Amino acid sequence: MNRAMPNSAIDRAKEHFGRLLEEQLARVDEIKKGEPAPDFASLKPIIVGVCGGDGIGPFISAEAERVLRQLLADEVKSDKVEFRTIEGLTIENRAAKNKAIPDDVLAELRKCHVILKGPTTTPRKGDPWPNIESANVAMRKELDLFANVRPVRVPEQGIDWTFFRENTEDLYALGSDGILVTDDLAIDFKLITGPGSERIIRMAFEFAAKNNINRLTVVTKANVVKTTDGLFLETARAMSAEYPAVKWDDWYIDIMTAKLVDTKRRTEFRVFVLPNLYGDILTDEAAEFQGGVGTAGSANIGTRYSMFEAIHGSAPRMVDEGRAQYADPSSMVRAGAMMLRHIGFGDRAEKLEQALDIAGRFEKKLVMTGRDTGATSEQFGNYILDLVNDPTLSKRWDEYQTQLTRG
Ligand code: IPM
Ligand code: MG
Repeated sequence: MNRAMPNSAIDRAKEHFGRLLEEQLARVDEIKKGEPAPDFASLKPIIVGVCGGDGIGPFISAEAERVLRQLLADEVKSDKVEFRTIEGLTIENRAAKNKAIPDDVLAELRKCHVILKGPTTTPRKGDPWPNIESANVAMRKELDLFANVRPVRVPEQGIDWTFFRENTEDLYALGSDGILVTDDLAIDFKLITGPGSERIIRMAFEFAAKNNINRLTVVTKANVVKTTDGLFLETARAMSAEYPAVKWDDWYIDIMTAKLVDTKRRTEFRVFVLPNLYGDILTDEAAEFQGGVGTAGSANIGTRYSMFEAIHGSAPRMVDEGRAQYADPSSMVRAGAMMLRHIGFGDRAEKLEQALDIAGRFEKKLVMTGRDTGATSEQFGNYILDLVNDPTLSKRWDEYQTQLTRG
């Protein structure tokens, strides 16, 4: 065997690994420094950037924007809130520039405070697109959106879960920086940092404590992935001492996925905190109980920036089959409600969430089927707006609650 060849391959890999370590240690320093958070109460205008995205993205984002614009009509008029369309976060433009987020688009995003983002197509091998990094993943990293908060509620079944998925580390951090050492040896990197774990676990504990929730569940695979998941788990264990009122427990991801389908046990879980990839997988599973990923919104929260999006993809098949206008906008509208709460309009967020629950779970006057057998995105958007503007909304909400308690 020719030893020169593998040796130079190993040297190249070492060099590559060395560079990654330097970059990651610099990132840890940035986390430790911290960034100032905007004070939305005094900020004027709060700039909301809207990216339509790909596939069904522009259809469902348009509905979410329309609903938010109406709910914030007074604030838009008084220049407290500005909606700004951010062009160019499309797969065509990203492919043309060969970048996950083209520089000019990123510069525009950085001028906003919060972003409402439609799903974007993530290229994979075999696509007509260059195999660039996912725009979601790139945005989370670029804007340091470290917390992916994903609520899932199925009141009829007593499910009330909030997932705190770490959003910038784990296998995602260097997902496009693995090494093909030789044709036979491929290596990817899983990384977890102390400060990165602390900030997401702190957010989850704070959420539980503030909402009087006496249960926080940490999910890892620390029995096997001992160093990285071990650090995550130990960070949680150490922090738990600061929150004596929150009972915490730890589960491994495999049995956790099983427990979510255990109807006798699953309702006892309330708040979850977990590394990135486990969070990605578990939240899709969880959303399925609520009515599918089409119903679930998510908040990507950082210190300086935050971004709100659906948890699902751009559904290119619906576009190919000419059905994009039938896409369910609930996920994006729910993300919009999370945005409202984040920037200080909690009352309107609650109204919007009530309208979504009444429309989707109680009255169901319109049904979304994803095709012409159901309503269009726009009709559903109108339905939500009618409910939000209806003076009997709270009465209808009470009726729904009564029905829930009666079972
Ligand atoms: C999500 C999505 C993304 C992820 C994809 C599109 C890269 O599945 O937001 O959960 O894996 O994080
Ligand atoms: Mg996912």
